[in-house]
Amino acid sequence: MSERVSEPSALSGQALPEHLPPEQLRELFLFADLSDEQLAWVGEHADVVEVPAGEDIVTEGTPAKCFHVLLTGTVAMSRVIGGDAVETTRTDQPGVYFGAVQFYLEDESARDYPASVRAITDSVVLALPAREFADEFARWYPMAVHLLEGMLLGMRKTNSQVAERERLLALGKLSAGLTHELNNPAAAAGRAADALRDRVTGMRNKLAMIASGKLAGAQLQKLVMAQDDFVKKVRHAPDLSPMQASDLEDEVGDWLDEHGVSGGWDLAPVFVAGGLRVDDMEAVLATAGPDTFEGAVRWLAYTVETESLLREILDATARISDLVGAAKQYSQMDRAPYRWIDVHEGLEATLVMFGRKLGEESGIGIVRDYDRTLPQVPAYAAELNQVWTNLIDNAIDAMTAADGAASGTLTVRTARVDDRLLVEIGDTGPGIAPEVRRRIFEPFFTTKAVGHGTGLGLDVTYRVVVNRHHGDVVVESEPGDTRFRVFLPLTEEPGPA
Ligand SMILES: Nc1ncnc2c1ncn2[C@@H]1O[C@H](COP(=O)(O)OP(=O)(O)OP(=O)(O)O)[C@@H](O)[C@H]1O
Ligand SMILES: [Mg+2]
Repeated sequence: MSERVSEPSALSGQALPEHLPPEQLRELFLFADLSDEQLAWVGEHADVVEVPAGEDIVTEGTPAKCFHVLLTGTVAMSRVIGGDAVETTRTDQPGVYFGAVQFYLEDESARDYPASVRAITDSVVLALPAREFADEFARWYPMAVHLLEGMLLGMRKTNSQVAERERLLALGKLSAGLTHELNNPAAAAGRAADALRDRVTGMRNKLAMIASGKLAGAQLQKLVMAQDDFVKKVRHAPDLSPMQASDLEDEVGDWLDEHGVSGGWDLAPVFVAGGLRVDDMEAVLATAGPDTFEGAVRWLAYTVETESLLREILDATARISDLVGAAKQYSQMDRAPYRWIDVHEGLEATLVMFGRKLGEESGIGIVRDYDRTLPQVPAYAAELNQVWTNLIDNAIDAMTAADGAASGTLTVRTARVDDRLLVEIGDTGPGIAPEVRRRIFEPFFTTKAVGHGTGLGLDVTYRVVVNRHHGDVVVESEPGDTRFRVFLPLTEEPGPA
């Protein structure tokens, strides 16, 4: 045994044997109850391997060739999570096993090492060739292998069901917001359409009155032309501050009052909102003459109102179309699941889907820092939208106080970093404490109250970005500045994605 082994053990002081004798194997808890024949098989097939401090014994993601058992030394197990190696266990207990721990499974998932194990001190391990061990093990314990396979299959099924459920949850979160978003313009359009019917009737009546009176044909024609002119003005009416509007309303109201229009004060706001001023009233007076002036003014007021209502209906229906478009884009309805996409489309659709939870009214401002020159990337578009949803949802939560009041800034940034595309979701919330930070990508890890978080958002995010897209997701956080960075490859991976 080399002097480098720091821990005293049964092996120290001797030259390192190539294989262990049965008595020594039996000291390891894993092999304690094997029959003599089985033990002899292990002794014959397991190599004794020295590993110097600092070296990987097995490396995550590389082909799982050997099942290892620790004999002496200290080893640490780690997994790459969110782009960083995270140490999960450290031990010096002889007999602990690692490496191809699922050697008895025949399926693909057991093909690679699930974690890395590194020698912290100089160490000695047993290495059993996984393939041969699997065949032998299945002969020894045929029923156990069946049970283990069943258990793993069950676990995997649960995991995928959980992921499916999470997808539905996110959709639920969004569709509640979306329903609300759709209801507002739909109700507004409905109200405006009702009012419009009213005004159109009023207008018909007024026109009949004007026409049956003393108005000459030429005059009537001029009024109809004025009407067209008014309509144009309504379409381009400027937005006024309440102060400006009220000043102008005073002017127009006074003027109408002076010219004998009873209730001129009620008409003034209609004209002002429609972009009409005292000049326009004067033009009408000149055309209609004093006798028919009041009737003409009221008829034109109807014109302005109907035009404003039409504008409202158009705005509302346009908003509904936008929302439906975003929902379609978000869900990727009728689109190929895997294709080349512009990430900005998905980001924008996702932002729309959050509706009132974002934007000025919510207290959370949005900053878009997009690099529009970025190329398209190959992606599962709907799944990426899921990722943006989870990250933005977390950012909103981080910027929302316990009493429900939200404040802060959500920053969505895109950029190219080397040969990858970066999407960064930043928030100005309190940040993530280091002890929490280590666990956030674990399934079911949540710091939120029962009923507020399932703890699956980042687990799903990780799986979609890393497993599905061969990208990476990392987090940087300090109070007031938390950034989740998603890196996506710009080119297609060789082989199935
Ligand atoms: N932007 C962030 N700021 C602060 N903490 C965060 C942020 N994003 C995630 N976290 C922390 O990570 C934890 C896990 O997040 P994850 O999205 O996986 O689950 P969750 O948000 O708690 O629940 P849900 O399943 O509803 O998403 C959160 O509970 C929170 O403590
Ligand atoms: Mg979440």
